[in-house]
Amino acid sequence: MATLVPAHNTLPLTADMQRALATSPQPAPSDNARLADAQGGVPQAQSLSAWRIPRYGAPGILVPVTRPMPEPGPGEVLIKIEASGVTRADGMMRAGTPKFARLFLGLRRPRQDLIGTCLSGRIIAVGSNVTRFSVGDEVFGEAGLTFGANASHICLKQDGVLMHKPASLTHEQAAGLCDGALTSYNFLHNVAKLKAGERLLILGGSGSLGSAAVQIAKAMGAEVTATCSARNVDLVASLGADHVIDYNRHNALDKGAGYDVIYDTLGVASFAAAKRALQANGRYVCPVLSLALLGAMMRTRKYGARKARFSATGLLAPEVLRSMLSAVIDLCEAGKFSPLMDRSYPLEQLIEAQRYMETGHKRGNVVVVR
Ligand SMILES: NC(=O)c1ccc[n+]([C@@H]2O[C@H](COP(=O)([O-])OP(=O)(O)OC[C@H]3O[C@@H](n4cnc5c(N)ncnc54)[C@H](OP(=O)(O)O)[C@@H]3O)[C@@H](O)[C@H]2O)c1
Repeated sequence: MATLVPAHNTLPLTADMQRALATSPQPAPSDNARLADAQGGVPQAQSLSAWRIPRYGAPGILVPVTRPMPEPGPGEVLIKIEASGVTRADGMMRAGTPKFARLFLGLRRPRQDLIGTCLSGRIIAVGSNVTRFSVGDEVFGEAGLTFGANASHICLKQDGVLMHKPASLTHEQAAGLCDGALTSYNFLHNVAKLKAGERLLILGGSGSLGSAAVQIAKAMGAEVTATCSARNVDLVASLGADHVIDYNRHNALDKGAGYDVIYDTLGVASFAAAKRALQANGRYVCPVLSLALLGAMMRTRKYGARKARFSATGLLAPEVLRSMLSAVIDLCEAGKFSPLMDRSYPLEQLIEAQRYMETGHKRGNVVVVR
């Protein structure tokens, strides 16, 4: 079982926020229909609050904005967001790194200018032809490439990456499931094809992906070794790791270590370095794309028994992601998985939350809440 490390902050409004709020453009109220609140028919606000990325850069470039409240179209639902994730992937999107990603995100500035991908909340309105959800349902999911999840509200397609929230999880816990849990489920099940009894090394057991991977791999019946720093050794052991290695004191990639799978959650090693610690038919899987990893994947596709593999989880088809999330929910409900939580900030302090996320030292998930 995971150890939760809650740290619910009530941090003061920062100078950044006060400046940003003062210069934030305030659009005219929308003339779209008033929306009835699911709980009691109270009229909803006609605008939503969100955070905009005017250009690529550090967290301080983010600007709070209000936008007209969208009306759900056919097959869409309008969600009042209770909590949303502050993820490494969001930070890369905001910074426009690696630079080749700008080919997809927008060359000079993000084409989709709102930030945030993962969220949890409650449906407050549905469009026509919506069959999977009703007003009042508690849901979690991801906005995908349309972004805009670090906000008060969002409109999503019912056939996108949207699921009923397990009752056993809070919105804060559910908000991060599409980051660490979904990605690590994909990497362990589909990319590495990890089998029960295999020996797995997780590089980075205390992050969002790593803390989920330890629990998911144990549920799959693997023997798990994970690396972390001394301050996180007990935490990672409490998640279920059989062996924990302090990365500052020992090199986990000893020649002949004989792992079946190495899951480099942070991209801190390379296939060349990991190869010597893999079994003859071992797999090195890494969610952080680099030119070196790309080259190793191309080479090992044809040559050699040891393989290097990558997947962009968020780009998989929604129905594939939904079926993986169903399996993650089953793990939650069976008590085999619980997201590791670090800090929770108010939505108004997204800049602070992003700065903390970018230290590279968070433990598990960081979220912003309404
Ligand atoms: N391809 C995909 O589908 C996909 C999807 C989602 C995310 N990602 C990528 O996955 C990466 C990981 O994200 P994350 O959110 O899991 O990271 P994270 O939570 O920010 O990782 C932070 C943790 O890593 C530990 N750490 C730092 N250096 C380490 C080292 N050398 N060895 C072992 N542990 C170390 C830190 O512990 P200490 O403070 O003790 O050092 C901290 O607890 C990101 O680059 C993200 O963009 C890819």
